[in-house]
Amino acid sequence: MSAGQTSAEILAELTALRNSDAPTHGGRVLSYVYDSGLAELDDLARDAAELTRPLNALDPTTFPSVATMERDIIAFMRKALHGTTPKLGGGPVAGSVTSGGTESCLLAVKTARDLWRAENPELAAKLARAGKQPRLVTAATAHAAFQKAARLFDLDWDPVPCEPDGSVRAAGFERKLGADVALVVVSAPAYPSGAVDPVAQVAQVAKEFAVSCHVDACFGGLVLPWWPSVEPWDFRVPGVTSISADLHKFGYAPKGVSVLLHRGRRRHRAQFFATTSWPGYPVVNPTLLGSKPASPLAAAWAITKRLGNAGYAELTASCVRSAEVIVREASQIRGLNVWGAPTGPSVALVTDSDLPETEQVDPHHLADELATLGFRIQHQPGFTQPNGVRLPHTAHLTITPVTERTLPELVTALQAAAGAVRGKARANPRLEYGALQALGYAPKREDGPFRVPSPDMAWRILKIAGAGG
Ligand SMILES: Cc1ncc(COP(=O)(O)O)c(C=O)c1O
Repeated sequence: MSAGQTSAEILAELTALRNSDAPTHGGRVLSYVYDSGLAELDDLARDAAELTRPLNALDPTTFPSVATMERDIIAFMRKALHGTTPKLGGGPVAGSVTSGGTESCLLAVKTARDLWRAENPELAAKLARAGKQPRLVTAATAHAAFQKAARLFDLDWDPVPCEPDGSVRAAGFERKLGADVALVVVSAPAYPSGAVDPVAQVAQVAKEFAVSCHVDACFGGLVLPWWPSVEPWDFRVPGVTSISADLHKFGYAPKGVSVLLHRGRRRHRAQFFATTSWPGYPVVNPTLLGSKPASPLAAAWAITKRLGNAGYAELTASCVRSAEVIVREASQIRGLNVWGAPTGPSVALVTDSDLPETEQVDPHHLADELATLGFRIQHQPGFTQPNGVRLPHTAHLTITPVTERTLPELVTALQAAAGAVRGKARANPRLEYGALQALGYAPKREDGPFRVPSPDMAWRILKIAGAGG
């Protein structure tokens, strides 16, 4: 092999490229990465991933280790989410390992849509004749993956407005329910607010309307089972028909692994795509991908075995302690508040708008200032809902076990950053959702299809959202 650069040169280049990335470990980046703080877990994940790297998880009959690892992970998650409770109703909980939260959410929607179509052929035809689509009902704070799913699977996304504190009322869901709803989604918790939606109440009304009810626990699925004083939100709740939970978040596995569980094999089967109508190999795809890596699955398998129930309980206890300190200390900072009532390790900070502007701390200025002190928290843009109720712009923190190690430093940095920006006016408060909508780049249901932004416009949108710079 003479062409190209040497391996050493290429790896040196990659090492240099990696130097410009934000640190994935150590607790200084409070979004995107989920650091257990345990080097042993990372080593185990790396070794398990390497052992399985050449496999193609497309075909577990050729590579049966894939089937075994998947079965073990599903069994672990089924237990954690109370899918093994006797007399659950609806049949045994079954599911698949997917490539991540978005794929789990997409598949939950596709499955529910296919079941809805099969069960409502006349209504489906009537809606189609009227140029309408069945609806997907979520809270306004549900992850954007559901908007993507609605677009991909020809559903009409119909968000339930949230309160200004980011919470959502079950009555809001109830008002939206009807025969044309293919799926209702609740979050445990919602990423932007950290609030757990009223799962039990919504699932109960969904059941009365015979509508499928998905719990998006992509964020909380491997932390809420061990979090203290959380109302039942999993398969213990009778109307819940499916749950997504990400192993590459609080499962502490490397990126590329999540699960989607269904109540009953019938629902699980509706998730599959299978065909022999081509001259190639018979295709049986439980998930969206065809050929797929086994490494994320193997890493997650190894970590769930290493940690077990007790290990996750211990890591969650660390997150609980850190969350309590952050919520308490941030609430005491003059001009700043914690947004709403988070349950779990997602906390958003918001301006205390009851104070005069000179006393207020803007969360985006706070995040910018905090970055200069070595901590990155995430800008979340404000959002005015179609009913006129504005969800404020905030700054998000994902609290992981490693957070506890930097906690005193983080609290001091939050206080110092707030002190530095207190009274500093927001850059341009009008440039958020309203502006995007006027430009045609934000959802307005009656508008029909969205415009696809050019690279220049995408950059402007990022800046408007507070991510530019
Ligand atoms: C509640 C929730 N659902 C879905 C997702 C999407 O997950 P992913 O980024 O793994 O596709 C996220 C990601 O943060 C999330 O917090």
